[in-house]
Amino acid sequence: MRERSVMKLAENVHWVGARDWNRRLFDALIPLPKGTSYNAYLIIGETGKVLIDTVNPGFEKELEEKIRTVTSPEELYYIVMNHAEPDHAGAIPYIMKISPKAKLVTTSRGAKMAQVFYHVPQERIKIIADNETISLGDKTLRFIEAPMLHWPETMFTYIEEDEILFPCDFFGAHLAGGVYSDEVEDLLVHAQRYWGEIMMPFRAMAQKALEKIAGLNIKVIAPSHGPIHRKPELILNAYKRWAAGETRQKVVIAYVSMWNSTDSMVKQMAETLAAEGIELAFHNLAITDIGDLAKDLVDSKAIVLGAPTVLGGAHPLAVYAAYLFKALRPPTKFAVILSSYGWGGGAVKQVQELLSGFKIEVVGALEVNGPPTEENMKQIVDIGKSLVNKIKEGA
Ligand SMILES: Cc1cc2nc3c(=O)[nH]c(=O)nc-3n(C[C@H](O)[C@H](O)[C@H](O)COP(=O)(O)O)c2cc1C
Ligand SMILES: [Fe+2]
Ligand SMILES: [Fe+2]
Repeated sequence: MRERSVMKLAENVHWVGARDWNRRLFDALIPLPKGTSYNAYLIIGETGKVLIDTVNPGFEKELEEKIRTVTSPEELYYIVMNHAEPDHAGAIPYIMKISPKAKLVTTSRGAKMAQVFYHVPQERIKIIADNETISLGDKTLRFIEAPMLHWPETMFTYIEEDEILFPCDFFGAHLAGGVYSDEVEDLLVHAQRYWGEIMMPFRAMAQKALEKIAGLNIKVIAPSHGPIHRKPELILNAYKRWAAGETRQKVVIAYVSMWNSTDSMVKQMAETLAAEGIELAFHNLAITDIGDLAKDLVDSKAIVLGAPTVLGGAHPLAVYAAYLFKALRPPTKFAVILSSYGWGGGAVKQVQELLSGFKIEVVGALEVNGPPTEENMKQIVDIGKSLVNKIKEGA
């Protein structure tokens, strides 16, 4: 058995999570360049011992060993399930087995999920209502429902006396390293990427949750992924901006090109925009990291989609990007579609169809036959200038 070390957040509040240094993919979709952590917390109250969240399957033993450095799992009163996704709830069956007295604390929606996903018997579940508290003698736990951040059952837990908020996925970052967020140089880059991937589709719910916690004194935010925020203003202010959909004079260029025609078109567009002082995020979909693309969508005012025609429609990578774009619901206001075709075309029409139903103004669309001509390049410059005007209008 390895020697386990746990970190103390406050008197009788311990981090007992696990660091997954080598994980490189999440949800079979999101690249994790820096791994991730599954943060679980142990609270030793005068009249009750509580575990907040667990860890990803595969880390059960590590969690148990870490709990044992502080107390015996048999003594746990409650296991709080802030969220039912397996990266935090996957070790619940294991922990409930070694903690026979413990009850699972969750929302009513969470109770159903705990039964379906983890076969937790009903008599071992304690359903709590929004804003309900549980007293541990010297510590009071308050539960705050935060639905759809990012599943229906999600909630936050708050220790009133220590003023620590445990928001599970909210305020997280996929970083295996880093203990305190104020010591992580590029924290906001990772937090923005995480927001783009996980929380951006739920901006309205995020705003509601931010309003709900605005009345709390928060000394520390202890999320379930990545570093702990002991200076919470940094992440709170970023979340306020992102949830409000604040954008910059920034354009995402997401494109794919087989024989460089679309490539020269988007590069012409990039040059036009850059000359006007517009910040650019350039993503060649054949090689880009889609987490990075999600990060750039968080605060961009416009997207330029470059998609050559393949088999009567848009290149499959462009179809994927357009689908993802719509699903992530970024605050992007304007779009431009650039395409090249060999004989019949069809990419622009397909991209437009894919974007239908999403509130976005298509400022220009250009489909050229083969490599772009000089005339085509002038057309791109014109579209670029119109886009710049749109971007600067609201600024
Ligand atoms: C596998 C493949 C399938 C293609 N299918 C079509 C098609 O269905 N209709 C069409 O107009 N052009 C089609 N083309 C031609 C390309 O759209 C054309 O070469 C275009 O200029 C490529 O742009 P790019 O250089 O940006 O990749 C196809 C090309 C390839 C390589
Ligand atoms: Fe989650
Ligand atoms: Fe998570």
